[in-house]
Amino acid sequence: MSHKFCIAPMIDVTNRHCRFFFRKFSKHARLYTEMVVADSIIYGDKDFLLGFDEVEHPVALQIAGSDPLTLTKAALIGEQYGYDEINLNIGCPSKRVQAGNFGACLMAHPKLVAECVERIKEKIKIPVTIKCRIGIDDHNPDEMLTEFVETTKNAGVSTYIIHARKAMLDGLDPKQNREIPPLDYDIVRMIKRKWPELNIILNGGILSPYEGKKEISKSKGIELDGVMLGRAVQENPYSIIDVDKIFFNDDKKLPSRIEIVEEMISYLEICVKNNVPINIVTQNMFGLFHGCRGAKLWRSYLSHEAPRRRDDPKVLKEALNQIISFQNQAA
Ligand SMILES: Cc1cc2nc3c(=O)[nH]c(=O)nc-3n(C[C@H](O)[C@H](O)[C@H](O)COP(=O)(O)O)c2cc1C
Repeated sequence: MSHKFCIAPMIDVTNRHCRFFFRKFSKHARLYTEMVVADSIIYGDKDFLLGFDEVEHPVALQIAGSDPLTLTKAALIGEQYGYDEINLNIGCPSKRVQAGNFGACLMAHPKLVAECVERIKEKIKIPVTIKCRIGIDDHNPDEMLTEFVETTKNAGVSTYIIHARKAMLDGLDPKQNREIPPLDYDIVRMIKRKWPELNIILNGGILSPYEGKKEISKSKGIELDGVMLGRAVQENPYSIIDVDKIFFNDDKKLPSRIEIVEEMISYLEICVKNNVPINIVTQNMFGLFHGCRGAKLWRSYLSHEAPRRRDDPKVLKEALNQIISFQNQAA
């Protein structure tokens, strides 16, 4: 199970269509679903929440919850759907999530998390991993993260994805909680130094595969096991096009942006047949031409046309023609 390069779980972003699109940039990156609340998995529309395309493998289901029995049921359903990993969300700071007693507030309850992990692991065979912060509120992160990892690893967790900043549960909203508390990669390295046998994946503020590779091996003698990138991939997905070469020694020919759009046109045709509105797919593609001439035109054509012509896959081809003719004129 490789976590060398992971694409982060992002609510309202990494739905199955987004993951299908991200897979165009890397065959090997590990993809994560949006956070799904355990109760929704048990009582909600399972196919809608959990369905995915085979090309998405390796793909992890991220679950939020804090009741061992409920989490176990949800994890079992996830395994039956074919996910490669169950990831527990111990990092989300939102008020709604706190009210349900899950997400980042669980960093203060490592024994409960350990119990959840033990119960889940009794029932499923796929790995159970944790995505957490380095701490919360005014707790000392050195102590809090160490105690959290020590307790939960004894319950059988061997992979931690650590968003290297605290979550401030009172006073900052989720967006601020991804920007204001300072990043501290050294605490993540400290955990790897203490338990070299664990897989420790660094997350937070990494802008490219190249930068991620540098961060992994920056500290003398300590090599982290991987990186997870979120916003950088969303904003500029083509920025990770060389990830398979950098992280997985895979020298395959890289597709151009235009080739990727052409493949997505075929995908849109299938979506329309399945009554999926095209804007659900195209909204993940706004950043594809980030930094290129005509990027604004591409983005505005898609954001204007796709919601109005929700069952017309031709919109994507038109957007592509627009940017190509703009680039030709400018040349
Ligand atoms: C729009 C958005 C939604 C997010 N949703 C989730 C989520 O569902 N589960 C989770 O663990 N983290 C979530 N995160 C946090 C990311 O997974 C990641 O930890 C964070 O953005 C830091 O990584 P980055 O600097 O590479 O973006 C979300 C982030 C963004 C920007």
